Amino acid sequence: MTDLLLLPGDGIGPEVIAEVRKVAAVLAPDLALDERPFGGKSYDLHGEPLTAETLEAAKSAKAVLMGAVGGPKWTGVARDKRPEAGLLGLRAGMNVFANLRPALCFQPLADASSLKREVVEGLDFMIVRELTGGIYFGEPRFIETLPSGGKRAVDTQVYTTAEIERVARVAFELARGRRNKVHSAEKSNVMDSGLLWREVVTDLHKREYSDVQLEHILADNAAMQIVKNPKQFDVMVTDNLFGDILSDAAAQLTGSLGMLPSAALGEPGAPGLYEPIHGSAPDIAGKGVANPMAAILSFEMALRWSLSRSDLADRLFAAVDKALASGARTPDLGGALTTAQMGDAVVTALQA
Ligand code: NAD
Ligand code: IPM
Ligand code: MN
Repeated sequence: MTDLLLLPGDGIGPEVIAEVRKVAAVLAPDLALDERPFGGKSYDLHGEPLTAETLEAAKSAKAVLMGAVGGPKWTGVARDKRPEAGLLGLRAGMNVFANLRPALCFQPLADASSLKREVVEGLDFMIVRELTGGIYFGEPRFIETLPSGGKRAVDTQVYTTAEIERVARVAFELARGRRNKVHSAEKSNVMDSGLLWREVVTDLHKREYSDVQLEHILADNAAMQIVKNPKQFDVMVTDNLFGDILSDAAAQLTGSLGMLPSAALGEPGAPGLYEPIHGSAPDIAGKGVANPMAAILSFEMALRWSLSRSDLADRLFAAVDKALASGARTPDLGGALTTAQMGDAVVTALQA
C-alpha cells in the first residue's frame, strides 16, 4: 500500500516536491512513495487533468501530497479540463471537506513579513476552510451569450446544514486542543448562505461546544482584522471562497506565501490531501528559487494527520525552525538560497 502519493503538478510544483523527496529519504526512508502526473502535466499526457486511475490511486493511498497546478500554457483549455479543475475534482473525489491552513510565524522569520514584527511575532492562527462546497461547486454555473449581445456568467453559492456543521465541528474540535476560541467568518449581512452558516454554527455551538468561545465576524472585517491584529485569532472557520482569499492574506503574515502548508481532511480514517497553499508561480518557475518550506511543512502535516508519525513530524518541524534560525532564506524571504539549498538546509538540520 502506498503511504504517500506525490502529485508534483506544474510550474514550481515539481521543484518543491523534489525537496520533499530529499527530506523524506533522510527522515522516513521506509515510507512507500508513489508519484503520478497531475494537472497540466496530466492534461498534456492524457487529455485529462485528473485521470480515473490517479483518483483511484489517491483514494487508496494513506495520504496524498500535491505540489501546485496551473499556468499560462493551459489558459485556453476548456474550464473542466483545466489543471485547476483537476484539483477541484481531486478534493471532491477524496471528500476532503475541511482544509486546515495554519498561519504560523516561525520566530526567525518575525522580521521577514511585510508587517511589523510586533504584529506577527508569536502568531499561531489556524484557518479552517470548507473545501468541497460553496461557489466552487454550486450549480448552475455557465456563461451564455445574450440575444441583446454581450454575455452573462453565473456561479452559484450553495451550502447545506450538513456541509456547514461538519466543517464547524472540525474547527471546534481543533480549538479545544489550542486556545479554545473560534471565529466564524461569513457575510450573513448580505447572503442567505451566510445566514444559514451563522445559524448552523450557532446551533452546533449551543448543543455541543458551549465550552469553546465563539465569535461571528463578517468576512470583510475578518480580512481587515487579519492584517491589523492577527494574534487575536486562534481558529477561524469559513467557506470555500472566503477561506481561499483570507488564507493568502494570512500567509503573508508568516513572511511569504511560500511558507504556508495545508491539510485537507475528510471522514476519520480516510486519506488526507496535503498541499502548499501557493500556486505554480509561473513568474519564477524553472529558475530554482521557489521556497520549498510550504511543501515540506505539508509533508510534516501528512506525517502528523494521516501517517500516525507525529514523532517524525515533530523532528521535521524542529528542523525547519532550525534551518530558518541558521539564516536559510530563499529570495521570497529576502535571502539568496536556491530551492535545493533550502531543502539541503532542512536535511542538514535533521542530521545535526
Ligand atoms: P501563485 O501562488 O502561483 O503566485 C503568487 C505569487 O507568489 C507569485 O509572485 C509567486 O512567485 C509567489 N510564490 C508562490 N509560491 C511561492 C514559493 N513557494 N516561493 C516563492 N514565491 C512564491 O498564484 P498566481 O500567480 O495567482 O497563480 C499562478 C497559477 O497557479 C494559476 O494557474 C493558479 O490557478 C494556480 N494556483 C494553483 C494553486 C494550487 O495548485 N494549489 C494555488 C494557487 C494558484
Ligand atoms: C488554493 C488555490 C486553488 C483554490 C485553485 C488553484 C483551484 O488557489 O488551493 O488556494 O482556489 O482553491
Ligand atoms: Mn488560493
